[in-house]
Amino acid sequence: MNKKWWKEGVVYQIYPRSFKDSNGDGIGDIRGIIEKLDYIKKLGANIIWLCPIYKSPNDDNGYDISNYRSIMDEFGTLDDFNELLVEMHKRDIKLVMDLVVNHTSDEHKWFVESRKSKDNPYRDYYIWRKGKDGNPPNNWGSFFSGSAWQYDENTDEYYLHLFSKKQPDLNWENEKLKSEVYNMMKFWFDKGIDGFRMDVINLISKVQGLPDGHKGDNDLYGNGFPLFANGPRVHEYLQEMNKKVLSKYDIMTVGETPGVNPETARLYVNEDRKELNMLFQFELMDIDSGSEKWDLKPWKLTTFKNIMYKWYEALKEQGWNSLFLNNHDQPRMVSRFGNDKKYRLESAKMLATLLHTWQGTPYIYQGEEIGMTNVEFDITEYKDIEIINMFNEKIAQGMKKEDLMKSIYAKGRDNARTPVQWDESENAGFTTGEPWIKVNPNYKEINIKSALEDKNSIFHYYQNLIKLRKEYDVIVYGDINLLYKNDENIFAYTRNLNDESILVILNFFEKEVEFKLPKEIEFKHYELLLSNYKVQDCGINNISLKPYEARVYKLQNS
Ligand code: NOJ
Repeated sequence: MNKKWWKEGVVYQIYPRSFKDSNGDGIGDIRGIIEKLDYIKKLGANIIWLCPIYKSPNDDNGYDISNYRSIMDEFGTLDDFNELLVEMHKRDIKLVMDLVVNHTSDEHKWFVESRKSKDNPYRDYYIWRKGKDGNPPNNWGSFFSGSAWQYDENTDEYYLHLFSKKQPDLNWENEKLKSEVYNMMKFWFDKGIDGFRMDVINLISKVQGLPDGHKGDNDLYGNGFPLFANGPRVHEYLQEMNKKVLSKYDIMTVGETPGVNPETARLYVNEDRKELNMLFQFELMDIDSGSEKWDLKPWKLTTFKNIMYKWYEALKEQGWNSLFLNNHDQPRMVSRFGNDKKYRLESAKMLATLLHTWQGTPYIYQGEEIGMTNVEFDITEYKDIEIINMFNEKIAQGMKKEDLMKSIYAKGRDNARTPVQWDESENAGFTTGEPWIKVNPNYKEINIKSALEDKNSIFHYYQNLIKLRKEYDVIVYGDINLLYKNDENIFAYTRNLNDESILVILNFFEKEVEFKLPKEIEFKHYELLLSNYKVQDCGINNISLKPYEARVYKLQNS
């Protein structure tokens, strides 16, 4: 297996708006990040993925970019950015920026020009079509509710927006647009950044003719997803991007790719194809959804394990996995897959053990390392365009508010976007002003200051996990042997590389369970490397696991 720095590293994801405010305007900023680099260094993460910091009117918190080469006013200036990069590199931390090129803001100068007239030189940078009998060009719905098309009176045509109407989709069939994107990428690489996380990169090629999607009887819109995800020219575009830009630098890339399966994923990450290094696939994130994201469904550990193992097998020799259980679009992992009440500490550590001992690059989302939890706000207190639009659309369809609130509590993106809880002072030490979104009321109990003071904290457990990863090659590169595939309580596996072996045993629930080491696992000596409980050494053949217990052992044959 090819050794790479981005396989061995640990990524810390920053959502700048909610990370740390340095100037009291209630919005996190670049100088706030600079202040906290030593904290990230102390945790041990050595790569930062920074969500968009470019100029933006913030319809979707920076994922609607109006200028790719300058910084959002609230976040600071290019000078601040340059300083951030220098300070990161001084600490041996790499910087991965967000690349959002499926769409821009409608306030980007390309779009401002594009909408002026049909013969404007920028017209074709976007996807414009005539309506059909007074209706949009096709029946696709947007990810943020409503139609994916917006009518523009000025030229009597519609433009496509898979996300909000302030996020028009770019037309990748236009050669000039592609070279503008490549030049913009070079601009950031030449500043010295170390990679890109590519926003919905598998949506950039749409099926020719933009036909209607399938529409069920109760659906408001047709499902365009199969027609714009993993589209006909996406690999051609990425191979070109790789050849013209990515291959010229020692960088990492991770593509955000909703709706890939193992076969389609390999086409993006197989090293021989020269496209991307890793993907974010969302099969685990869909495990508790019924017909759609907001339709809640219980999940089973066997399904969870099968998904993890399937993706390990799919990419083990032909790519690389990224490992995450939450990010800025997902609820908090301890609330979703653990227990954010009685066993918050134990379950957060148990889940972290999985992420940091499986094969792939682990991603830590800000606040995860102290076990930050979901929130339950009043509907008027939410800020996320996805939540607000969904709520309004479904209320208009006659759905009950209390049912919708349950879904928002469980799945809403704002769960992840409440400010990082730095200490027990007002606004959790995030800002001296009025925070742009409410702070989670549990900040007096859950905050970084107290985590740093407590040897037993989730933070210190993460530190230990990251240290182990640096020490043992087998944790990064070892094969996985999944034990007890069909067990509904325990997730256990060994990792093996040459003569190194690691055994990981995780109790995923509150119930105490017995673990029996399978006979085929041979070892002469064992050593406990890490656990989230104090362990009394009674051997490892039969272990009685406490609620959410996690143990990592080293096994030796000589
Ligand atoms: C995925 C991003 O992670 C999400 O936050 C954003 O709303 C959409 N892409 C659109 O850019």
